[in-house]
Amino acid sequence: MNLLDRLRESFANAAPEGVDAAALGNSVRPGTDAKFGDYQANGCMALAKSLGVSPRDLAARVAEVVDLGDMALKPEVAGPGFLNVRIRDDWIARRLRELLDDPTLGVAPPRRTRTVVIDFSSPNVAKPMHVGHIRSTVIGDCLARLFEALGHHVIRDNHLGDWGSQFGMILWGWKNARDDAAYASSPVRELARLYRLAQSRIQGGDAGVEEASRRETAKLHAGDPENRALWQQFMPSCLEAIEAIYSRLGVRFDVRLGESFYDPMLAGVVDDLTSRGFAVESEGATVVFVEGSKTPFMVRKSDGAFTYATTDLATIQYRVKTWNPDLMLYVVDHRQGDHFKLLFEVARRWGFDRVDYRHVAFGTVLGADRRPFKTRDGDVVGLESLLDDAVSEARALIDANSPDIDPDERARIAETVGLAAIKYADLSQNRLSDYVFDWKKMVAMNGNTGAYHQYAFARIRSIFRKGEVDPYALRSRRPEITLGQPAERALAMQVLRFPETLELAANELKPNVLTDYLFETANRFSTFFEACPVLKAESAALRDSRLALSDLTARVLERGLGLLGIEVLERM
Ligand code: ARG
Repeated sequence: MNLLDRLRESFANAAPEGVDAAALGNSVRPGTDAKFGDYQANGCMALAKSLGVSPRDLAARVAEVVDLGDMALKPEVAGPGFLNVRIRDDWIARRLRELLDDPTLGVAPPRRTRTVVIDFSSPNVAKPMHVGHIRSTVIGDCLARLFEALGHHVIRDNHLGDWGSQFGMILWGWKNARDDAAYASSPVRELARLYRLAQSRIQGGDAGVEEASRRETAKLHAGDPENRALWQQFMPSCLEAIEAIYSRLGVRFDVRLGESFYDPMLAGVVDDLTSRGFAVESEGATVVFVEGSKTPFMVRKSDGAFTYATTDLATIQYRVKTWNPDLMLYVVDHRQGDHFKLLFEVARRWGFDRVDYRHVAFGTVLGADRRPFKTRDGDVVGLESLLDDAVSEARALIDANSPDIDPDERARIAETVGLAAIKYADLSQNRLSDYVFDWKKMVAMNGNTGAYHQYAFARIRSIFRKGEVDPYALRSRRPEITLGQPAERALAMQVLRFPETLELAANELKPNVLTDYLFETANRFSTFFEACPVLKAESAALRDSRLALSDLTARVLERGLGLLGIEVLERM
């Protein structure tokens, strides 16, 4: 159990008759200022009313009875009725020592293992991936890693858009404007060109192309042999192109069940909804009315076509039957919020109500002009070339900083630093806000960036190299830890908070909870390193203690960055 949970449990147990124990327990939070303590419980303010006593009196009573064992000092009552908790230094030191050879860094198995389906990335294939796809891919990957690290059963599902109207546009393009030589040399590029051609004709008001594309989609769905064969032919190269990006980003999936997979189930979904009376005819279409929503959920259009919504319902049915998940996450652009609200509501009414559904929404990636990211000619930048740009930016930095490292290794470092920059910049945002895509800031060594953390890790490694200390040998020696300096204690507390941070980030579905924690960790290490000589400590025992603290910090950084999908470097 993590430290925060232990405190919460102790406080819940200390609630007097008539006080909501869970509320009191849950009011325990990490303190905001170490001067006042490591944790703070502020529940007494709201809870005192139910007893008819003053918050300070209730706080005093709780402080008297709460059993914190040898973990913390007796809480102090402060202000209008806060309880400040200070963890005992000897307890911190003992606990840290135990962590030295604990590969999980204190993360215990969950009380109840949950099965979590994470629907993420899910691009519409046949359009090249662009900057908008980075967010779902990177946030979904991070959440998958987090839930896995906490001991849950995770299914990573790439719900590919492999069946939508973009194929009708490509089919129209193929039949009317294809360049066979171009297709032979680069199928994906040619398909993308055809897609863009159709798109620009339609956007330019060409109703003929629009109608023709729509008919091609309908024919594909109806099983027209020619369109099916073309679709079969296009798919492998489309998938190869997106796989190349995933493998470069180090993102993997357990299943890749795209929209086409659910096509055979759609008629059954609509029939079932209709026969149970949930779905009704409305102006020729089949819809489900949802209370409180102005627009109904359309499951079959008046022309007979099934919709994105029908597919999502079939998907839920399939996932529940196959994996029986407790939690289903949809890492999708915030603009689809209304769709998911309706989807979850209809799914629950349909009977799939044991699942906790969450739309993990995120904001837009902006250019320097604060408008959605575009190149100068107005085209959305391909993801591949963005990754390349980040890597060359990183390369310039490494070339300038470390000309002594050999060029091959510099290239490897640049790839790692460049990808880290992009991922970190994305994950460190509150996911709901928009953010500006800014090279210089992303790749910088200073500030809350990927490179800053990779550098912090490499710096700790260099201490060990310089002192010729083998970290494994140090860990198995299990040196005594001393926390004489405030900077040592502050860093030690931070290391102990690793497990509760993962829990918090997963509960709130917010990777930035983890990045904030890592930034604080790296900063506390800097303060510690300035204040406390490590290799030149006054005694061998103190040197070992500080090395152990440094080693734990490096492991927290490595593991934490790993959960963001970011690799560390021995040197940079
Ligand atoms: N392919 C969709 C898009 O690009 C996202 C799919 C999200 N997942 C889902 N189950 N609806 O907009």
